[in-house]
Order: sequence, then structure tokens, then C-alpha cells
Amino acid sequence: MRNLWIAACLALGAGNALADEVLATISSPDKNISVAVQRTGDGRLAYTVQRKGKPLIAPSRLGFLLANAPQLDGGFSLEQQSTSEHDDTWEQPWGERRFVRNHYQELRLDLVQKDQHNRHLGLVFRIFDDGLGFRYEFPDQPLTQISDELTEFVVVPHATAWWQEAGEMAALEYPVLKTQLSEVGMANTPMTIRTDDGTHIAFHEAALVDYASMWLRKVEGQKLRAHLTPSAVGPAVERHGAFTTPWRTMRIADSAAGLYMSNLELNLNEPNKLGDVSWVHPSKFVGVWWEMHLNHSSWASGAQHGATTQNTKRYIDFAAANGFRGVLVEGWNLGWDGKWYGDGSQFSFTQPYPDFDLPGLATYAAQKGVHLIGHHETGGNIARYESQMDAGYQLYAKLGVDSIKSGYVTDAGTAQFASADGGTHYGYTDSQEGSRHYLKAVQDAARYHLAIDTHEPIKDTGLRRTYPNWISREGARGMEYNAWGNPINTVDHEVNLVFTRMLSGPMDYTPGILSLEGVDHRPINSTQVKQLASFVVLYSPVVMAADLIENYEKYPGPFKFIKDVPTDWEDTRVINGEMGEYATIARKDRHSDDWYVGAVTDGKGRTVSLPLAFLDPGKRYVAEIYRDGDKADYRSAHRFDLVIEKKTVTARDTLKLKLAPGGGQAIRLRPE
Ligand code: NOJ
Ligand code: CA
Repeated sequence: MRNLWIAACLALGAGNALADEVLATISSPDKNISVAVQRTGDGRLAYTVQRKGKPLIAPSRLGFLLANAPQLDGGFSLEQQSTSEHDDTWEQPWGERRFVRNHYQELRLDLVQKDQHNRHLGLVFRIFDDGLGFRYEFPDQPLTQISDELTEFVVVPHATAWWQEAGEMAALEYPVLKTQLSEVGMANTPMTIRTDDGTHIAFHEAALVDYASMWLRKVEGQKLRAHLTPSAVGPAVERHGAFTTPWRTMRIADSAAGLYMSNLELNLNEPNKLGDVSWVHPSKFVGVWWEMHLNHSSWASGAQHGATTQNTKRYIDFAAANGFRGVLVEGWNLGWDGKWYGDGSQFSFTQPYPDFDLPGLATYAAQKGVHLIGHHETGGNIARYESQMDAGYQLYAKLGVDSIKSGYVTDAGTAQFASADGGTHYGYTDSQEGSRHYLKAVQDAARYHLAIDTHEPIKDTGLRRTYPNWISREGARGMEYNAWGNPINTVDHEVNLVFTRMLSGPMDYTPGILSLEGVDHRPINSTQVKQLASFVVLYSPVVMAADLIENYEKYPGPFKFIKDVPTDWEDTRVINGEMGEYATIARKDRHSDDWYVGAVTDGKGRTVSLPLAFLDPGKRYVAEIYRDGDKADYRSAHRFDLVIEKKTVTARDTLKLKLAPGGGQAIRLRPE
């Protein structure tokens, strides 16, 4: 019927028979960003965004396809609207900065479809100076089944996009692509675009709770549409009673640096629900890890087994001698023999291999002031993991292990979930079921005062604010690809991550491979200095110094920086940077007056300026500089060329940082 009506309108040349009608408008506190919600000519709901008087987002549709009711996107009338302003500052227990200002204008709309038995839909926009978020509010009703979301983002100015494929086999672990926005296929978020006039936008979502993850599908031209991660067993989302969707977000800034400085998604999440989280410990660790990725030892049992009592003691001794809080041990538990990835059916989360004395090692570590870091690899078998998760948590908590790295290695779409009939079914980790599991793992862990560092995670949408024991996650190609990847990470990988993946939150990247080589001595695309700079540039409150002990012993000079660099910050400033080219970030230690600077570049050598104006003007500082040597180049043996020097500086100085191709610079600034 409706199609006939549209066809009739088009035939009459009256595609816009009804004029667009603006229902409500709202602007950011500084008035630069403004949003209008409108009813379009065909009766549908849409929104537009302007920045500094220029259109950024053309009328973009809002609404849903439902599986148990007619579509929810048109024929609305506005029942009520209200606006309000919010401005406060909250404190992070750990993070890139201690204090976060949360300042926005809010617009709330109550819309009703009279011809659908007065069906209501709430729409809430929050407009910040650095972007915006909006979400839908569903009323209390027995069952809502969403087959897909109709939310669109129609970008007006021509733009270039940095994005990553969604729904493909390796899930979030794809290289970042750079294309015209119009050439995007199905993208994960955050996806960053730069318009030809230099406006930067990062599309993402906040507070992904009990809902399917949003992928972005290019429809035509520069029109993107939300595509909810499908469910294997029913509609993408099924909810009972009233609920709100995650926030659909856009960070908007004049520069890549501006995007990074925004706290938009954190601000759109609920405050800390855990109270005192002094049991969450930002810190560094080493691990029985890289040796397995290099095939020097194995996760599986046998002569090559890496997680032996003796080998673990070696790492504990090394950690104690060098001030690392933690030692991660992978392959400690039954289940690694045979094909574990994408299967996980043999994993035990309580039974160690016989050559790994778990309680003895926990005691040995404690005596040396070191903490074992737990490891729960599931092979994507979420059903099996959930049946043992509590026992696994209990065991670790009893032994004083206070953080766990978890893992879900499986091809996208093949995670195993428990079915209602007692069996299992396959699905995406970023489906609604996945979102429930990952959050449950974190919530349950909180009861045992355990922090969780998730590998092969669902994407980060700022839930660390609400659950600060979700201490880190992977969620992109990490260092592991430099061991065995085909291909390994490209030379621009780190700079690509900074202004895409890193906008969503901490990443357990596992930097610090001073040997600069993977399996069979294959060189990685980095100078040695860039390995150091990554500790500052790629933020994570828990960081593994990933290389083998012998490599740290071989390079005591650069290793000093790895020992010194903290992982919890009072403040963070992006000094400069361009999408996919370079980035310089300064961070102030949360527990001293020291500042640390990291700069990384792509394959191009360049000189960047570092004005030290962020330093305390009343103080003189010693700058401990780790820079690329004059011949340094990631493509030659000179990738190891590294110069360590000291300078006395003040806030009035500007340093010139010469970055080699594939290189960087790392600096510690401590008051004299
Ligand atoms: C993939 C993780 O990213 C990696 O860090 C880990 O070593 C393996 N899975 C095994 O769990
Ligand atoms: Ca991984």
C-alpha cells in the first residue's frame, strides 16, 4: 500500500509532496554544532547536523525494522520535547587523564505513531562542543524484536575514510584501510573520516549493553547506514520491557588531535557502578608469551611446553629484578593440546598441566612482590567458558591473582553460545549475545575483585567508566601479527591505530619488541625507538613488555625506558598528528611530576616540533631522550640505531624531533 503511494507520488513528480518539517533543534554549548530533527516529505524521521554554519550531515533517516511489528520510522507526531544543559567534571580511577568534563545540551523527544495504536519512541540527543550522541528509548512493552536499525549518516562534504572491514573472518583484527568515504563497504567503528575542508569525524557508539554491535554499511555515495550484527538464532536484538539503545556517536574536530582529545563516549556512559576500585591495578607485566608466538615453546603440553614451573620462575625473577608488577602465563591449563582455537571444548579453567605448580608459583611470586596474571583462553567457546567461569574466577581470587587476560580466538560468526535447549549454537562475538557475555564476564569478575583484559573482544564503547575493572582489551591487530602474521603489520599501523581504534579506549597492543623480529628472524616494520614510543602513544593501563627476557638483557639502554614508563596518567595532550601519518602525544604520570612523550611516524622520515609548554613553568626538567640515530630506517639493519641523550629544558623550549622512516621518539621529562 505504502509502496503504491510512493510510486504514485513519484509518478506525479511529487517525491517531496510534503515539505520537510523541523520538529526540534539543539546546539552545542559553544553553538558550533547544531542538530535539527525533522519529519521528511515522506513522513519519516530524520536528523541533520551543521557545524560552524556548514552542513555536515544531510537529512539522515532514524528508526527500526522490527520482526514482530510494522517498521518504526514514520508517521510520527511529536508529543513532547524538552531541553536541558548539563555540566560537571568527574574523576577517573585510572585513565589518560584524571578529570573529565561532561558538558552538553540535551534534547528529549517523545514521538508517537498514532496509526500504530499510539506506539511511542523516545529520542535523546546530547550535543557537546566536540561531537554528539543520540539514542532511542523504547517504552515498556513485553517484547521488542529488532531485525535492523535504520539509522543513517549521510555525510555532506566529500571525505576520505580510515576504516576497517566488519563481519569478516578475523573480526576486529584487520589493517586500517584508507579510501574515499564513498568506497567504504561494511565498516567497523570507530571509523574516522576527514572532509576536504579538514573537518574530522569519528563515527562510533557508546554504552553497548545488551544490544548488537553497530557496523556501518555504505549504501550509496556518502550515505552510511547502521547494520546491526546479525544473530544466528533470531532478530539482531530482542528485549523485554523498557530499554535504551547504545548511543550513536560522532566526535567532530578540526584535527586528528582534536578527535583524540575528546571524551565523548566515556561521557555518554553511566558513572562507575563498582565504587572503590583500588583493587584494580594499572601496571606493566612480562609474560610467557612471545616465546610461544615465535614457536620457541608451545601452549600445548610436552617437551616444548612454555608454561612450566621452572620457566615461569625465570619470568618472576626477571619481573622482580626489573620492577614489573605482573607475569602473564599462557598455556598453564588443560585444553591446549589439539585444535583449541574455534573449538575450546577441552579447556579447563581450574586444572593446570602437571608441570605447572599454580599455587606454588602464586606463593613464589608473592614473596617477590610479583603477581601472576591469569589467562582464560576460550577458543570462542563461550558456552563452555560460562559453565566454568565462576570456578575459574574463584580459583584465581583465592590465589591472589587479581587480573585475568581472556581470549576468544575463533573466526567471526563461529563463537559458541549456549542454547535454551541445553545445546549450543554459533554466532558473532559482537552480536547481542556476545555483548551480554563480555559484560557478564566483567561484572562477575568484579565480585571477585578481578580486572579483565579481553582479547578478541567486543569493541570498546566506553564501558570502562561504568565497570573500571574492564581494564583493557585487544580489538585490533596487535603485535602478535609481527610474529606470525601474513602479512605482518604495516609501517603505518601504529599511526593508523591512534586516530581510529584508539579513540574507543585502551588497547593491549603488547609493544616493546626490541629484537625487531618475528618468526624465523623476519624483521618487523619499525625502528627500535618506535617500540619505545608505542608505550606512550598506544594507551593501555596494563601493558605487557612483550619481548623475550634475553632481548631485554641484550638492550639495557632502551630497556631502561620500558622500565621507567608508567601506565596511568594525570593528563594527556596530543601535541600534533595527521591521520595515518604521524602522532606525538605527551602524558603526565599520575604518581609523580614526570611527563612522557611518544612520537611515531609512518614509513616517511620527518621532523616534528614539540613545544614544551605543558611543563610546569617554574621548573627545570631533565629530558631523557631516546631518538632514532641519523641513519635509522625501518627498512635496513639501521632500524636498531638509537641514541640516548640528556638535555635540560624548561616550558619555554621547543624540541625538534627527528623521526626516521618507520621510527619515532620517546622522552622522559623529570624535574631536575
Ligand atoms: C590471541 C591473543 O591475542 C594472544 O595474545 C594470545 O597469546 C593467544 N590468543 C592465545 O590465547
Ligand atoms: Ca588477538
